[in-house]
Parts: sequence; structure tokens; C-alpha cells
Amino acid sequence: MHVRLLPLVLPAAAVALSATLYHATTHTWCIPQPVTGDKQSNLFSAFQHGAWSGDSHLIEKTFNKYIVEDYIQHNPFLPQGAAPVVELLKGLTKSTSLEAVRMGFDGGLGWVHSRGSPKPGHEDEGKVTAIVDIYRMNGSCIVEHWDVMQEVAGNATNELGMF
Ligand SMILES: *[C@@H]1O[C@H](CO)[C@@H](O)[C@H](O)[C@H]1NC(C)=O
Ligand SMILES: *[C@@H]1O[C@H](CO)[C@@H](O)[C@H](O)[C@H]1NC(C)=O
Repeated sequence: MHVRLLPLVLPAAAVALSATLYHATTHTWCIPQPVTGDKQSNLFSAFQHGAWSGDSHLIEKTFNKYIVEDYIQHNPFLPQGAAPVVELLKGLTKSTSLEAVRMGFDGGLGWVHSRGSPKPGHEDEGKVTAIVDIYRMNGSCIVEHWDVMQEVAGNATNELGMF
């Protein structure tokens, strides 16, 4: 399967423009529209940029814009639907920095390999987690999510880092 790597940073102008064009209220979620694969890939990039922004307001706007209300959730500890993830991420962002290290999109599936690091002064400071999120899109919207996480081991026997 060919996986194209995406630029991790969107042009600031594109982000500012999408923020200006977006007027949805808190309870409006994404409604799938047919789009090309290239457009899906761009939408996925924009979603990821907002979701990991660390800015609660932008996280909420991003999920409202890109996620369907009946989002299918495979994380074993989260309820179904879009709303619980928004609350989780808004909370998580206060204590943890999330950084996308690499990502790609192909055939309707997008993936992100991320580093999660507790912010200074928070519990578990220094305990880094490697995270892979996989999302399925239907048309213009993200409809399904899987994730796996692994703590970066302090006693690794492989000298290559996890990233
Ligand atoms: C995609 O969304 C449309 C419109 O909501 C729906 O009819 C269709 O079943 C969905 N397809 C998949 C594969 O999820
Ligand atoms: C590394 O540490 C973890 C957590 O304490 C332990 O479960 C694991 O067995 C250790 N692995 C090795 C190879 O020492």
C-alpha cells in the first residue's frame, strides 16, 4: 500500500482562513459530503493540526468540523460518539503535550504516530508515551477511530529510540 507522508505543519494562512470560514455552534458535527482522495487527505491534515493544537477552543472547533456525531470509537476506555473525545482531549491538553512525529493518509485511512509528554510539574513528568491513532474517513468526515499506546521504556534493550 502506498502511503504518502504529509507535511506536519499547515501554512498559517490556511489555518487562519479555515478558522474564519467556520461558524458552527458547539453541537454541530460533520455531515459527510463526497470528496476526492486528495481533498480527504487535506481535510485529515487540517483535522490533525487542530486536534493536537493544545488549544481547547480550537480542539472543540476542529472536532465539530471534521468528526461525525456518531463517531465509532475503538479505544477501550471511551464511550461512543464525538462529544466524549472532545472533553477528553480538552482535559488531556492541560497536562500533556501531544506532538505528531509522522503521519500519512491513503485509501480513506489516516494515521498519526505521536509523542505524548506530560507537561512540567504534572504527574508522571518525564514519562513519554508513543501513540498511534488511525482514523477512517467517509467523504469529508472522520467516522471511526482506533488507537494504541506504549510507554517509552527506560530499560529498552533496542538502542534505537521509538521515534
Ligand atoms: C458514508 O456516509 C453516507 C452519508 O451519511 C452514508 O449513507 C454511507 O453509508 C456512509 N458510508 C460508509 C462507508 O460509512
Ligand atoms: C523493563 O521494565 C518494565 C517495567 O518495570 C518491566 O516490566 C520489563 O520486564 C523490563 N524489561 C526488561 C527487558 O528489563
